[in-house]
Amino acid sequence: MGTKERVVIKLSGSLFGDNAADELKKYARMLLEISSETQPVVVAGGGNVARHYINIARGFGSDEASLDIMGIEVSRLNARLLIAALGDNAYPAVPSDLEQVSQAADGGKIVVTGGLHPGQSTNATAALIAEKVKAKKFLNATDVDGIYDSDPNKNKGAKLFKDITVKKCFELLGSENSAAGTYDLMDIVALKVIERSKIPTVVLKSDPSTIKNAIANKATGTRIIV
Ligand code: UTP
Repeated sequence: MGTKERVVIKLSGSLFGDNAADELKKYARMLLEISSETQPVVVAGGGNVARHYINIARGFGSDEASLDIMGIEVSRLNARLLIAALGDNAYPAVPSDLEQVSQAADGGKIVVTGGLHPGQSTNATAALIAEKVKAKKFLNATDVDGIYDSDPNKNKGAKLFKDITVKKCFELLGSENSAAGTYDLMDIVALKVIERSKIPTVVLKSDPSTIKNAIANKATGTRIIV
């Protein structure tokens, strides 16, 4: 059981929005296809719905840890929706800590999880999961093509990195101009985990065919060199 190489795929919470019915059908098909060769462990983000709840509750004066828990709950609900799309091909429950993720993965089915711990992003959680399940690859599927040298939404001339070192990622995080944009893609906790366990990581545009290409080792998005 569970002898295939594992890949951890972080899916942005934006997938679970208005077009979720169509989108998730496509992603489920893709996950099924790749699962003939590799075992996907998917981490769902919280997206706008999480931000919606968090913003309202922050207005009510909730503490930040409670807001994080709210975000985690939304990401777990998103995970359930993808599990529903995958049917019997998925492990039927949403794990709530790293050990549960690892036990679920040992069953060999596609595992779908949401956030785990307050105080960190889904990206950091996904990196920790990749470490825990000894994933051969960590794909961070986002709504941009990869890591740019500055925020592409603000700067038309922003340059996309094909490869980037972890050290350079830390530098980008530290530089004022691009902090916000880069934070969304890879935060410090995620980078530290990738670095210490040398997890091959790609930040790429969330699209079923792009994800398939990355799994087939075709160059796409930004590869983080560890
Ligand atoms: P994210 O902001 O990571 O969701 O989680 P997302 O959809 O992946 O974001 P994008 O759109 O792809 O960039 C939503 C919120 O849930 C809490 C945090 O408050 C986070 O902002 N969260 C999530 C945690 O506290 N811990 C986790 O492990 C995951």
